[in-house]
Amino acid sequence: MSAADNDRTPVTVLGLGAMGTALATTFLENGHPTTVWNRSTDKAEELVAKGAVRAASAPDAAAASPLVVLCVLDHHAVSEILDTVGDALPGRVLVNLTSGTPAQARAAARWAAEHGADYLDGGILADPQDIGTSNGFLLYSGPQDAFETREATLKALGGVTTYIGTDAGQAAVYFMALIGVGYETWISYLHTLALVGAENIKATTFAPFVTGMFSGMNELLTAMARATDDGYYPPDAGPLGVHAALMDDLIATRQASGIDVERLEHVKSLIDRRVAEGHGADGFSSLIETIGNPST
Ligand SMILES: NC(=O)c1ccc[n+]([C@@H]2O[C@H](COP(=O)([O-])OP(=O)(O)OC[C@H]3O[C@@H](n4cnc5c(N)ncnc54)[C@H](OP(=O)(O)O)[C@@H]3O)[C@@H](O)[C@H]2O)c1
Repeated sequence: MSAADNDRTPVTVLGLGAMGTALATTFLENGHPTTVWNRSTDKAEELVAKGAVRAASAPDAAAASPLVVLCVLDHHAVSEILDTVGDALPGRVLVNLTSGTPAQARAAARWAAEHGADYLDGGILADPQDIGTSNGFLLYSGPQDAFETREATLKALGGVTTYIGTDAGQAAVYFMALIGVGYETWISYLHTLALVGAENIKATTFAPFVTGMFSGMNELLTAMARATDDGYYPPDAGPLGVHAALMDDLIATRQASGIDVERLEHVKSLIDRRVAEGHGADGFSSLIETIGNPST
């Protein structure tokens, strides 16, 4: 029997939207006495039927457990709730799994310290149905001892439970960085599907070409990261001068099909600027010098 099997730490979950309900359900299924609270009380009913205790107020809920998990819509909701629970928090570990910025996480950590609580900030890179499964991917940052004390309980939420470091803002840095890759990839993919669609090619016919391309991308992404760290930009996927010529044709192809080219024109302007600065023989990763200094 593992340590996690023996762990029956009481847990409070504040916020019972889609994600908070999945978190509370998972704690219940793992045998944790679970106290719940939500602004709209009806959302607790299903959990109460499964064995959760519904607290009458957020402060009552926070007082009920040594581990208090907060998962609401955004930092405005977090602030409204924290304003009411401060007196109930001393000695507790507050884990905020609400998505937010690094600055919001650091401010919440300072607030928690003033109220005698340890604060862990978390980012959830998973859907509610993934919580409690091997697909659950959660990142945490904040005091290491607080994480290690509660690690066994938190591990129940997802197969990939990763501690980043002591700076409470760092989980949000990783979270925002990763969802940024997601959004920018998805929007690029949709432009691509629009392009092939304009040529009467079904999206599902074309999709395997994209998934195949992505499955071979690990080596290039690692090489680009290495180039970024080193500040030396070998011609990954060809030199910028060649990319510049290709971009003209790519933009023309999209324009001919009536597809939006605003983002590609931005990429082209970054390449042109770098080439004009004498870096036409560098690789694509060289654009990081321009991205990080937009005004220079
Ligand atoms: N759903 C996902 O797939 C997913 C994935 C990764 C991360 N997340 C993150 O998880 C967090 C929660 O998402 P969700 O999907 O659970 O959202 P949701 O289903 O829309 O639920 C929002 C929750 O926030 C509460 N809330 C909103 N404003 C409030 C306020 N002013 N005071 C008190 N409570 C307030 C709502 O209470 P009421 O019920 O009273 O309105 C509800 O419990 C978000 O930060 C989201 O980015 C979600």
